[in-house]
Amino acid sequence: MKRIGVLTSGGDAPGMNAAIRAVVRKAIYEGVEVVGILHGYQGLIEGKMEKLDLGSVGDIIQRGGTKLYSARCPEFRTEEGQKKAIEQLKANNIDGLVIIGGDGTYRGSMTLTKNGFPCVGIPGTIDNDIPGTDYTLGFDTALNTVIECIDKIRDTATSHDRTFIIEVMGRDAGDLALWAGLAGGAETIIVPEVEMKIEEVVERLESGTARGKKHSIIVVAEGVMSGQDFALKLKEHANIETRVSVLGHIQRGGSPTGRDRVLASLFGAKAVEVLMAGHGGRAIGIQNHQVVDYDMTEAFEKTEVFDQKMYQLSKELSI
Ligand code: F6P
Repeated sequence: MKRIGVLTSGGDAPGMNAAIRAVVRKAIYEGVEVVGILHGYQGLIEGKMEKLDLGSVGDIIQRGGTKLYSARCPEFRTEEGQKKAIEQLKANNIDGLVIIGGDGTYRGSMTLTKNGFPCVGIPGTIDNDIPGTDYTLGFDTALNTVIECIDKIRDTATSHDRTFIIEVMGRDAGDLALWAGLAGGAETIIVPEVEMKIEEVVERLESGTARGKKHSIIVVAEGVMSGQDFALKLKEHANIETRVSVLGHIQRGGSPTGRDRVLASLFGAKAVEVLMAGHGGRAIGIQNHQVVDYDMTEAFEKTEVFDQKMYQLSKELSI
């Protein structure tokens, strides 16, 4: 392996830059050249790439976003798009790729691996929804961002005796909502993995009020419904007045936490090692504090990664 490429694709996540840095520095340390592909698979199809040297990844470990830019690329899902991508890899003498992103990014890379261009995936998404790894890059930073927002909203909720609904990202997964809700002391957490009974939510709110509680925080994962729709439900069902706060893309930005930077460094270095050993179709992850690589197809399996015990605990601690 003489020359490898690195790209970021899908929704950006804090820690992607730190992972790019680790890939570049580890590869160069091992005597391998690195090419950065811009704008994910779209940039690959269009041949938008640049050689990355040691200095090019200086001063990025602490930056959110991705230096290589990101995109979602429908063209890459077509045979035509994949053919163009393969031609670009050949023309630029790229022997293998490190791809950083979520499961959509992983899926895209499988075709390249099958066509003789081994790809290794680094999980980069705030959603923490990739089977085979306990944590994805960006989750910890997003979690801390959401906690900070909950704390601030709680200040005003307390001052006005209000019930707040906070809509949190996560796509179809409830991890971000659960962890942030638990850490932020939310009274109720609504996630896609647990059926929501509006009667139960109302009962919890009313029993809180009965014991003198004047404010309440409800965290709703976007995968269940929007915060606005949930507010309507509460209004219709029990005439409960709420305020809604949609955190949105704030959750994807910001300087990565120490944990995300360390994870990114470990993942980046491991991805290069796996690629140099000639293995493609592998995903990098962390399982029980050990950095591992595993068959990428396992990341597509519909394994339940949600922690039901933690969810139950969140309910017990917020009675
Ligand atoms: O996958 C990351 C994520 O931020 C999800 O939590 C969210 O549903 C989605 O991306 C938003 O995507 P976009 O930035 O394309 O609106």
